[in-house]
Amino acid sequence: MASAEVFSPRTPGPARVVVLVSGSGTNLQALIDAAADPGYGAEILAVGADRDGITGLERAERAGLPVFVHRVKDFPARDAWDRELTDAVAGYRPDLVVTAGFMKILGPEFIAAFAGRIVNTHPALLPAFPGAHGVTDALAYGVKVTGCTVHLVDAGVDTGPIIAQGVVEITDADHADGGDALHERIKTVERELLVEVVGRLAREGHRIEDRKVRIPA
Ligand code: GAR
Repeated sequence: MASAEVFSPRTPGPARVVVLVSGSGTNLQALIDAAADPGYGAEILAVGADRDGITGLERAERAGLPVFVHRVKDFPARDAWDRELTDAVAGYRPDLVVTAGFMKILGPEFIAAFAGRIVNTHPALLPAFPGAHGVTDALAYGVKVTGCTVHLVDAGVDTGPIIAQGVVEITDADHADGGDALHERIKTVERELLVEVVGRLAREGHRIEDRKVRIPA
């Protein structure tokens, strides 16, 4: 695969970022907090969701950010939802889109519109344990270490080029409590990693070479 320039930093001004969430939004909150520093290099323009009544949207509203919600069930077909979500995000002219606990598979129109510029965070060490149950699938398999992966989104489920990973050890106690404590430990590592990666992409830009995400400097 040829090298492709995917995003060059915006000069002047911070990179424009839209974040998509489905749940508690602690990763979103970490990004909001980091972006409060002008030196971070990224500005969050809006937060979108696939459902109402989630803490992630409350966090966005508390930070004074515009929010939008597009629920799959309100559309006659999945591609209509895909188009609406694509248009809503494109309206903010983002340099980067971050899916931070967004529990829907993005459609082909969305992926084409923001190709190479969608950053996802996943609670397992990809390519192991993709999908919606990364934490409990790793526990059930019996691996001794798991963690989180920040990667670019492609047309597959959690198959895009990996940017960074963090490792978390699994203890015997994790099997007893069903994975909640493990997920919280993963999220502690994940928030720090996501903030670091988004900041680097925003400040330095990136390109993709043979599945490797290259960040200058
Ligand atoms: C995070 O652990 C994220 O990796 C996971 O949901 C959590 C969201 O937490 N995403 C997935 O499992 C996607 N397959 P948050 O709402 O507190 O940021």
